Amino acid sequence: MTDSKNFKAVVAGTGAYLPEKILTNQELEKKLDTSDAWIVERTGIRERRIAAKDECASSMAAKAGRQALEAGGLEAKEVDLIIVCTSSPDVLFPSTACFVQNELEAFGAAAFDVSAVCSGFIFGLSVAEQYLKTGRYENILLIGSEVNSRIVDWTDRSTCILFGDGAGAVLLKRVEWGKPLGVMSTHIYSDGSLSDLICVPGGIGKSGINKDDIDDKKYFIKMSGNATFKVAVKRMADVIREALKFNDLSMEEVSLLIPHQANERIISAVADRLKYPLEKVFMNIQKYGNTSAASIPIGINEARRSGRIEPGDTTVLGSVGAGLTWGSAVIKW
Ligand code: UT7
Repeated sequence: MTDSKNFKAVVAGTGAYLPEKILTNQELEKKLDTSDAWIVERTGIRERRIAAKDECASSMAAKAGRQALEAGGLEAKEVDLIIVCTSSPDVLFPSTACFVQNELEAFGAAAFDVSAVCSGFIFGLSVAEQYLKTGRYENILLIGSEVNSRIVDWTDRSTCILFGDGAGAVLLKRVEWGKPLGVMSTHIYSDGSLSDLICVPGGIGKSGINKDDIDDKKYFIKMSGNATFKVAVKRMADVIREALKFNDLSMEEVSLLIPHQANERIISAVADRLKYPLEKVFMNIQKYGNTSAASIPIGINEARRSGRIEPGDTTVLGSVGAGLTWGSAVIKW
């Protein structure tokens, strides 16, 4: 049995894939009773990406994953485990991760999905971290990928304006514990009593796929936006505080906060509660909207490649999503 303090997980490579098609607020104005001004003021979103007909969670995940492998200098056959975090899987089963494994020809890897919606990436990171810390695996490809455009009701202005498609990936490698870098902590939580706040209510195992549920649009995202907003701010700020306390860190020592991108006002309110300057908060919601489990790894990839994350930096991640689920992580680079 390996001592769990022997190893840590480091981010060795990052990648992302965003579909080419851009859907702007102006285009939505033509189809819905909404306005660019309302969307920008209430959410910060200006445009989002929409997957092409032949794209899906696994195809986007494979592209992001391939880029992370290239950045980390690892061949697909050396990957031990593929975790895909998604709430818009290709099919009910097999897992989207198995399709990604096939596409990457990473046949030495085990592959499974993690379902924690917008907190998916942090939940997946927490799973990956355990396998690396115990020494069980050496290389893990962790991907968040969502094709939200297929599970939103495009006639519901309160939800469809929020979401977008895309994928982000990190290659995690095992290193000796003593190195002062890597995933320093993950904290994850769930509260199933709040499952009605955001959900896709159409039953599969519960009531079977049925025509009434299809006609009632129950296979699309339903959200109590305002109630979710209030819960989201408090839970995200609290779980970030917990991560700081666990690592004996102050907010001043954090170089970049990468929060889940659900709403610019949620992000600002969290920064406000933490008394953290907004200039040090990563935000790309204006370009991509809410890409659920993909938003944090897309953010990590952009921040890394644009030089907003440098060696020696400390990054904090935070999320809240359907479930309710929420979590935080600290990564030293
Ligand atoms: O990623 C997982 C977690 N998800 C979230 O955290 C989402 C959290 N919630 C939110 O981001 C916000 O609650 C929304 C952006 C969804 C909504 O913003 P809000 O400030 O909470 O607005 P509201 O729901 O209280 O609605 C205010 C008004 C309503 O009209 P009345 O009842 O005041 O006449 C809505 O019908 O805005 C109306 N409205 C819209 N108007 C124009 C709702 N959607 C739209 C729209 N365009 N797209």
